Amino acid sequence: MTLETVFSTDASSVIFGPGATREVGPRVKALGCHRVLLVTDPRMALLPAVANAKTSLTGAGVEFDIFDRVRVEPTDASWKEAIDVAVAGNYDGFVSVGGGSTIDTAKVANLYSTHPADFMAYVYPPLGEGRQVPGPLKPHVAIPTTAGTGSETTGNAIFDLHSAHVKTAIAHRHLRPSLGIIDPDNTRTMPPMVAAASGLDVLSHALESFTARSFDTREAPEDPLKRTVYQGANPLSDIWSARAIELCAAYLVRAVADADDDEARTNMMLASTAAGIGFGNAGVHLPHAMSYPISALVQNYVPDGYPNDHAIVPHGISVILTAPAVFRWAAGANPERHLEAARLLEVDTRGATAADGGDLLAGVLIALMKQVEMPNGLNGVGITMTDLPTLVKGTLPQSRITQLSPRPADEDTYRELFTASMTNW
Ligand SMILES: [Fe+2]
Repeated sequence: MTLETVFSTDASSVIFGPGATREVGPRVKALGCHRVLLVTDPRMALLPAVANAKTSLTGAGVEFDIFDRVRVEPTDASWKEAIDVAVAGNYDGFVSVGGGSTIDTAKVANLYSTHPADFMAYVYPPLGEGRQVPGPLKPHVAIPTTAGTGSETTGNAIFDLHSAHVKTAIAHRHLRPSLGIIDPDNTRTMPPMVAAASGLDVLSHALESFTARSFDTREAPEDPLKRTVYQGANPLSDIWSARAIELCAAYLVRAVADADDDEARTNMMLASTAAGIGFGNAGVHLPHAMSYPISALVQNYVPDGYPNDHAIVPHGISVILTAPAVFRWAAGANPERHLEAARLLEVDTRGATAADGGDLLAGVLIALMKQVEMPNGLNGVGITMTDLPTLVKGTLPQSRITQLSPRPADEDTYRELFTASMTNW
């Protein structure tokens, strides 16, 4: 086996700052678009972010139709509905205004209307065919309204494949939006539970990419063009991830506690973007891999601040519930990294040894989860030990990201980590 010696960094184009949404019209026009599909969800469609985007598009003379039926935590069915609208409308570009679910829906509407194919063609294997995206997509300007997924900076789109009861992804660098417009004013309407869940998703992106297996421990691809974007931790992704961890330490709790804390909301947006560039070029590992069966299993849980028409474990919550157990378990593989992550989270690590890294990191995460009123473990969202086989089975197809675990993980590992995560404290 030849080990990898090369890593890549794809940077995203973003504009950042309060009021930046007002630039969407001229920006879309500069990308050559005259008639776009504005993608959003029903709740967001009534809020100022969408109103401001519409005003700006109109002012720039860009025609648009609105698709406002994005499902929060999308499914194959909800994606197909958006794809059908995109195909029928034959638009020359896309604007998305919303959380990760919305931005991801716009990515796939763009993909399948630009390069038509059977739905499973581009879905990641083993569930889908994993076909390469044949070429660039149409321009897509993404306007996030949560400080979370970092979807505006990545080429990933995640959905719930109902037939298989599992979340999976389409991932290719061509899916990365042409431009992210990151406007902290758009997070002013975020309910506290949404701020908490999306903020913990940011933190987990940063921690997972920072502790992921290093790029140079992986096998080099024979074809350099097939080097995956989920290539492992590398010197440039580390810079973004480490800074995102520090920003979360300083601002996450404040941003949840007070939606009018402009400094905190702005810095959580920065953290989200930084973490997005970090994990978009490194990858995430077990907390994300194990989160997909958790959200797919939900029966009755409906947190405050989310649409109450369907049960949901928001992505950020499903990720963070197993994070303490994962980091405690994984730390043995690279203890210094875990200790450094704890230090970046403002833990006093003076006098600690590298061997303490996992416990210190798990401890500070649990303290943060309590502060922002997370449910206590899988039991807290209605999942019990009788669900263990389903949880394990749903993690096995996530090899794209489980292979980035710093410590090799198998079925027994997942069983142990889910069991340890039934309660967090
Ligand atoms: Fe995430």
